[in-house]
Amino acid sequence: MLRDRFGREITYLRFSVTERCNFRCAYCTSYKDDEIAKEPSLSDIEFILKGVYSLGFRKVRITGGEPLLRNDIVDIVRTSKLIGFDEVVLTTNAYRLKDIAYDLKKANLTRVNISLDSLRNDVFLKITTVNKLDDVILGIKEAINVGLTPLKINTVLLKGINEEDLIPISNLAKDNDIIVRFIELMPVKGNSFFERHFMGYKEALKILEKEYTLTKIEDVSHEVAFYYRIDGFKGRIGFITSVSQHFCTSCNRLRLTSTYKIYPCLFSGINVDIKDAVKERDFELLKRRFEEAVFVKPEAHGEIRLGSKEFIENMRELGG
Ligand code: GTP
Ligand code: 5AD
Ligand code: SF4
Repeated sequence: MLRDRFGREITYLRFSVTERCNFRCAYCTSYKDDEIAKEPSLSDIEFILKGVYSLGFRKVRITGGEPLLRNDIVDIVRTSKLIGFDEVVLTTNAYRLKDIAYDLKKANLTRVNISLDSLRNDVFLKITTVNKLDDVILGIKEAINVGLTPLKINTVLLKGINEEDLIPISNLAKDNDIIVRFIELMPVKGNSFFERHFMGYKEALKILEKEYTLTKIEDVSHEVAFYYRIDGFKGRIGFITSVSQHFCTSCNRLRLTSTYKIYPCLFSGINVDIKDAVKERDFELLKRRFEEAVFVKPEAHGEIRLGSKEFIENMRELGG
C-alpha cells in the first residue's frame, strides 16, 4: 500500500473517464465542445486500474464530466469490479440514470452519488441550463429501487440561489436510504461564481437548525464530509467544507484526469503524466508514476478565499 510523506495511506482513486457533459452547471468549468480531448479507452482504463490495484488502491470512483455519457459505462464498471476493488462507485448528474441503474447494479456498481442543487424546475434550469429535473428524480428513485445504496446526494450551497431548497432536499433523506451532503462552492479557474455565490456551511446549518433537531455523528474515517442525524429520518445529512474547514489530514485519494494526468490534490498545480506508460502498456513505469504522484502529494491545500491562488483548473477534466 502506498503511503505519502505525511503518513497518509493512499487507497482511493477518483478517475474522470470523460470531460463531456450534458449539463452546463454555472459553477463548473466552461469549455468549448470542440476542445475536448480524447477519452481513455476501456482497455486503457483496465490497464490503469490493474496498476493501481496492485499498488494497494481499494476504492475507485468513476467521475467526469458526466460518466453516463460513455456508451461503455456498464463495461467500465464491470471491468473495474472484476479487478478486485472493494468499492467501485460513480458520481453522476443522473440525467440518464433511470435507464441504466439496473444494468449498473448488475455490473456490480457498489453505489452512486448524485448531484442535485434544486428541486424547483426554474432554479434547476438556471443552474444546469437543462430542463431535466424530472429525469433526475426518476433516476434517484430507480437507483434506490435497484439497491445502489446508500445513495448520496451532493448539493452545492449557492448563496442567493438555492437556500429555499435546503429543507426540501434534506427531506429526501426522511424515508429513504439517502445521505444528503451540502458542499461548499469551490473556485474554478475563469469562473466568477465563487465570488458571487459562496455560502459557508454555518449559514446553511442555521437554516436547517430552524427546521430540525440535529445530532452530530462522530467521525467516519476518510470521509470528506461530517454528518448529522435528524430525529425521525432514515437517512442523514452532512457537509463538505472544502473552503471553511479543510479535511486534508485524512485525505486518502489521488485523482486521474481523462487526459492521463495524476493530480495529487484537487487544488495542486503539479501533476504527473502517465500517457507514455499507458500507450506503451508499461506496467512498471505506470506504477512508478503513481508512486511519484503520491510522493509529491502536498500536506494540505492553501487557504481558499476571495482572490487567493487556490482554484481548480478544470473541474470536468479533474472529476471533482
Ligand atoms: P464518497 O465515496 O461517497 O464519500 O464520495 P466522495 O465525497 O469521495 O465523492 P463525490 O464525487 O461525491 O464528491 C463530493 C464532493 O466532494 C465534490 O464536490 C468533490 O469535489 C468534493 N471532494 C471530493 N474529494 C475531495 C477532496 O479531496 N478535496 C476537496 N477539497 N474536495 C473533495
Ligand atoms: N464547487 C463545489 N462543488 C462542485 N461540483 C462541481 N463543481 C463544483 C464547485 N465549483 C460538484 C458537483 C458534483 C461533484 C462531483 O462536484 O456538484 O456533485
Ligand atoms: Fe456536468 Fe458535473 Fe460540471 Fe454540472 S458540475 S456541468 S453535471 S461536470
